[in-house]
Order: sequence, then structure tokens, then C-alpha cells
Amino acid sequence: MANNEDLFKQIISHAKEYGYIFPSSEIYDGLSAVYDYGQYGVELKNNIKQYWWKAMVQFHENIVGIDSAIFMHPTIWKASGHVDAFNDPLIDNKDSKKRYRADVLIEDHIQKIEDKINKEVEKAKKRFENFDEAMYRTTNARVMGYQQQIDDITARYADLMTRNDLAGLKALIEELGICCPISGTKNWTDVRQFNLMFSTQMGSVAEGADTIYLRPETAQGIFVNFLNVQKTGRMKIPFGIAQIGKAFRNEIVARQFIFRMREFEQMEMQFFVRPGEELKWFDYWKKERIAWHQSLGIAPENYRFHDHEKLAHYANAATDIEFKFPFGFKELEGIHSRTNYDLSRHEEFSGKKLRYFDPETNESYVPYVIETSIGVDRMFLAVFSDAYCEEKLEDGTVRVVLRLPAKLAPIKVAVLPLVKKDGMPEKAEELMQQLQPHFMCQCDMKDAIGRRYRRQDAIGTPFCVTIDSQTMEDDTVTIRERDTMQQYRVNINELVPALLQKLAK
Ligand code: GAP
Repeated sequence: MANNEDLFKQIISHAKEYGYIFPSSEIYDGLSAVYDYGQYGVELKNNIKQYWWKAMVQFHENIVGIDSAIFMHPTIWKASGHVDAFNDPLIDNKDSKKRYRADVLIEDHIQKIEDKINKEVEKAKKRFENFDEAMYRTTNARVMGYQQQIDDITARYADLMTRNDLAGLKALIEELGICCPISGTKNWTDVRQFNLMFSTQMGSVAEGADTIYLRPETAQGIFVNFLNVQKTGRMKIPFGIAQIGKAFRNEIVARQFIFRMREFEQMEMQFFVRPGEELKWFDYWKKERIAWHQSLGIAPENYRFHDHEKLAHYANAATDIEFKFPFGFKELEGIHSRTNYDLSRHEEFSGKKLRYFDPETNESYVPYVIETSIGVDRMFLAVFSDAYCEEKLEDGTVRVVLRLPAKLAPIKVAVLPLVKKDGMPEKAEELMQQLQPHFMCQCDMKDAIGRRYRRQDAIGTPFCVTIDSQTMEDDTVTIRERDTMQQYRVNINELVPALLQKLAK
């Protein structure tokens, strides 16, 4: 059984080998933390976006979508706070010349202590039957000691981050004895703030260039269009605006494959509500969003909420939906109650009123906002890593299978003529024409049938349809299911409804 690090490496190489994800600009040795989606990757990504859009826009009469530009007026990023406060604390190791995020160095240190606790717990589990993990955590002195260390560091770290105390962060890194993983030394520079926005120039320099930013989130495109959509769509509060689009962040530590990228995509929705009703709607969206995740059939224990104790100054509630990635539980989606902060700031900076007249209360107010925000790429990684499976078969061989939720799978049906003769290729072509209007499908004639099944398993195709000599006699085909490898015959006329029914589940 591979450990989690090995498993993650296998998942990354599987993504490349089967045309899901390639490093960007690979023939030029790549570009750090930027990736390209291949022929199957783009299908999975599109299916994820469509699944989200359907749930958010199609199934909510009071939510509409927009597609705002990536380039926006630079003052927007002043108003949103990104110019002044969208920073990460960075630190360099003077010997290796490598740059790190000071907060990540401390969080990794805390994780190492957490790993020690988990090891102790695992050891105890092997020794005792009916082992109660909670009891062990509170009674074992060694574990209690580790837990105390974690609590002390976490409290100090949270305080330093809140106060933006950069010298204090450096002192903590030195006190904890954190070394650079490359040079192995503790020879650190001071901690500095580093703004994460990419900037560029609009217009030629001769005309008087103006600095503009590549948006670091899609949300601001929604806020600045709030009134346009409300007025033209005659939207009544509560209502939402959804958007899917690219965002860019100059991450200092971009790692863990597509988990933290410099160019990525977000699916965001801002829900505008009456002041005072925001916490009710915050709870509503927590339930809706977790239900969306669980509707994909991924094990519920792979998700958990992480409520924020320390809130951003503009928020009055915030939670993350965390997912159990191969490298542990990490943020997949954020749900935030952002008060009326963003709209009020845009009122202030633009000088335009961004108010809603509520006919029920006869009042005019700046609406409060609940935001749901999820990264497409992070969702891709969650689904893909959860689906990857190496299965030992009865004959001793190992089958690599991507158990993707069928509705998200890039190819839904593969048509496989048993041999390349006796009219079977022609029959396969005929069948493809029947299936194509309904499903993404693929016809594969190369190699022995067993190898072709394995190839489709590795791509994650939920159904293979095999054409054999019996097909040529009675117009029946075999459906072979990816997960169970069960096979059964159906009449060609019943194939489309049978597959549609299975995919609707
Ligand atoms: N508008 C709110 C916002 O942008 P965020 O927590 O910074 O909040 C929301 O980002 C989501 O976007 C995250 O939960 C994550 O899924 C995704 N995300 C953020 N930074 C990312 C990055 N560098 N690479 C990939 N996904 C990222």
C-alpha cells in the first residue's frame, strides 16, 4: 500500500499519462504552478463547471449568472482592499536563496507535531482492541505534551498574524528552530509583505500607461455589476449573482500540484440579502453547498467544516468546506458572510449609490452579502484524487481505475468492437452515431479487448459497450460497468435509455 506522498505522486503522473493535466510550457521546462488541461482534463473541468452552474443558476430562480472581464478599473482593487492588504508574509533563506511564506513554514511545523500525534495514535490502535482515540488523546502524556505545543504555537501565531507583526513572525520561526529544507540552515532574512496581485500596463507607455491588475478573485466583477443586474433583471432581494472565471495570484509557495496555482479558475456566487438576515442565509448556504458536494456520491467523511474563529474585519461569519486531499484536510470552498463591506466600499470609491429599495420595508439600504467561493481546479483535484484507485484483482493483477462520479466522467461510453472485421467496425460506427447526440463517447478498436477495458478504466469511462458476433446476429450488445466490471446484454434499441437512466442517478 503506497503512503500518501507516493499515492499523490502516482495521482499526478496518472493525470499526465492519461491526458488530464500537463505542466504548462513543458517543452520549455515548464512554468512554476501553471498547468494545462489535456483532452480528458478539459472535459472533466467543463463537467464540474456545468454541474455547479446547474445547481446554482438553473435550480435557483433568484440566481443569475454573469461573465465579467478579467481587467477592471484599478480603483476597484483599492476599494476592495487588495492593493493594500492582499499580502503574504515572505521570508528568504540566505544560504539556499529560496523564498518561503513565513505563515506556511509555521503551519508546516504545526503539521509535523500533529503527525507525531497521529503516529502515536496509530501505534496505540495496533496495540489495543476497541481503542478509543479521544480517550487516548486526553490521557497519554506524550500526546498531551504535543497538543500543548500545538496550542501554544497556534495562539501565538494567530496573534502575530492578526497584528501583522512581521518581526514577531521571524522570531517565532527562529525560536521553533525551523530550517530551510534545501540548505538545512536557519539563516533567515527579515519577513516582508508581498502583494499577490499580478500587474500589467494598459495602453502603450507613450500614451501614458496605467497600471492594471489581473483579477485575484472573480467576486469584485459581481459587486461592481450589482446594480446593473438588479435593475435590468428586476431582481428582488434575496437574490444571487454567479460567475465562473479565471483568477490570478502570484503565490509565493505554489505547490501541491493544482491545489495552489498562479492562474486558476473560481466559481463564485454573491447572495444579496436584507441586513439582519445574513446569518440565516449563511446557514442556508452552508447546507446547500455541502449537499452539492455530497450529491456526487463522494464519502461524506471526506468533508468537514472549519469555522473561522478569527474573522476578517468585514465578516461576521465564515467557514471553509475542507476536503481530505492525499496530503490531508485542506480548504476546498469558502462560505463567507461579508456584511455590506464590499458594496459600501465601492459606493465610497466610485461615488455611485449601490442601494436597493425594498418595497416590503419601504427602505433603501446597501444589501448584506453571503459569498460561496470554490476553486474549479481544487474541485478537480478533490474529485480526481478521490477517484484514483489501484485495485488488486483475484488473478493477482492490479487494475488502475478512476472511479469518477459518472455524471462528471469525460467519456461516458466507449464503443468497442471485439474484432476489426466481420462487419463489427461498421456496426460500431453506426452505434457511435446513435450515441453521440446523447453522450461524449469514444470508439476504440486497437489492442485486445482486455487492454481496452483497462484503458477505459484508467480514463474513468463508466460504461463500455462491446460489439461481438452475437451483435451481428441479434442486435444486442454487452454493457460492461467500470466499477463492478459486471457485464450484461441489452438490445441496441434500449441502449440510450438504459445509459441515460444510469447516468441520471
Ligand atoms: N472571493 C473570495 C475568495 O477568493 P479565497 O478563499 O481566497 O476567497 C476561494 O478563494 C477559493 O478559491 C478557495 O477555497 C480555493 O478553492 C480557490 N483558490 C484560492 N486560491 C487558489 C490558488 N492559488 N489555486 C487554486 N485555487 C485557489
